[in-house]
Amino acid sequence: MKTILKNAFKIKSPDELIAVSKKSELKKTLNVFDLIVLGIGAVVGTGIFTIIGTAIQGGPESAGAGPAIIISMIMAAAVCVFPALCYSEIASLIPVAGSAYTYTYATMGEFMAWMVGWILMLEYAIGNITVASAWTGYFVQFLKGFKHVLPDFIVNCPMWLRSDYRFMLSYCDKYGLDPHSQMPFLFDKIPFAVNLPAIILVLLLTILLIKGVKESTRFASVMVGVNLFMIISFIVVGSFYVKPENWTPFMPNGFEGVFMGAFLIFFAYIGFDAISTTAEETENPQRDLPIAILGTLVICTVLYIFVALVLTGNVAMGHINIQAPIAHAMSVINKNWFAGLLSVGALCALTSVFLICQLGTTRILYAMSRDRFLPKSLRLIHRKYRTPHVLTWISGIVVIVCALFMDLNISAELCNFGTFTSFIIICIAVLILRKTDPDRPRAFKVPFCPTFPILGILTCGGLMLYSMKFLTTSALYFPLWLLIGFAIYAGYGYKQKRLEEKPRVLKQKEKISV
Ligand code: ALA
Repeated sequence: MKTILKNAFKIKSPDELIAVSKKSELKKTLNVFDLIVLGIGAVVGTGIFTIIGTAIQGGPESAGAGPAIIISMIMAAAVCVFPALCYSEIASLIPVAGSAYTYTYATMGEFMAWMVGWILMLEYAIGNITVASAWTGYFVQFLKGFKHVLPDFIVNCPMWLRSDYRFMLSYCDKYGLDPHSQMPFLFDKIPFAVNLPAIILVLLLTILLIKGVKESTRFASVMVGVNLFMIISFIVVGSFYVKPENWTPFMPNGFEGVFMGAFLIFFAYIGFDAISTTAEETENPQRDLPIAILGTLVICTVLYIFVALVLTGNVAMGHINIQAPIAHAMSVINKNWFAGLLSVGALCALTSVFLICQLGTTRILYAMSRDRFLPKSLRLIHRKYRTPHVLTWISGIVVIVCALFMDLNISAELCNFGTFTSFIIICIAVLILRKTDPDRPRAFKVPFCPTFPILGILTCGGLMLYSMKFLTTSALYFPLWLLIGFAIYAGYGYKQKRLEEKPRVLKQKEKISV
């Protein structure tokens, strides 16, 4: 038992991690501008274009914040600042692929590292299910604008070809429809619905990711440009139609609504940490990673606050649309043409979030397979494009399969739980490294340490625990996910790690006997 515990908490020193990363076959092509584009591309998406509607109005298990969403947004941003500072410090200290996974390995040992890697899959891969579902919603709306040009079977594509089966069943239930008349049933028993646009999107973007990280960020930068232009135009146009009376009552559901709003809108901030997953592909990671992480957070927070002010000022609480709140707000002020354009902006935003989070997923899995938690065959690098193509395909297929079973809200909540946990761990990692490795040069240091990392732990933990009181479904799935992760480590990862150590021990023995 003692040996098992000793092994499970064995750390990999930062020097060892950096040495391995130096042998990396990944191309170093990203500069600070690319990283900020990556950051904004990963952050601005479903949260601000879709989830903001539920955060204001409330959902099946959560109270809405109302116009006080502005307070929720500031709270969510404040909660992100401490982990962002911690990410910056560690990313400048250990500029190695794998983000929180790698940093945990350097501070808390192998078992915690595996668990964090597993939790990060919730943030990136499961989070991308939310993004893919929201993408279809906006895509369908966008197609409706072409009803006189495109054939009817495309514009009015059957709902079972653009939704998951859970959505179909709840839709039939809500409108009293017979599910058999709305979708096919396999063997007359199993309801079948598939989100076809999302699948096509995932396949296309997977191919793009395999072609290369530079190509993917170039594509993402075009998407980010369109999306920023749309958001700024929304703020400018909408500000002329703000009715201050829409801001009262300001907190219709009191603090419960504000806190739940902060929990939900936290999804809109997720992604800045994805920047650190590309450390091995960055030209000057020590300097550029902290600038990019903090810069992204500041730009997004300012934009979000203005969007929230305009949205709640344009549309009265109770009339905010849940599926496409931003585009709908423009219809409310009779700017239908602009609502259509905003759908294009939303599609660009969601595409770039998807692209960058998928990039993050594969880079974390790459680091995990390099550490033998996953089979070696998975980390093959494509000969021509020098990207981890096997892992990229697997990540894409996982999103496609899971999107058949999970709906947008549950995957978003799970993603939030995963991200809060990884943020807490990053704050702990900074505290540990300050104690265990105080003299290592740090290009960036968290100010007011240990107060700021501790505040990060308390704020992330507090918001997560508070929301668990209300969100019964995802709060049940989250521990289940952790249990599955634990079982995989106990059944596979632990043994693989010991096999990895054997040749080293044998070599040492051979040296001694010589
Ligand atoms: N922050 C990202 C989004 O809102 C995950 O889509």
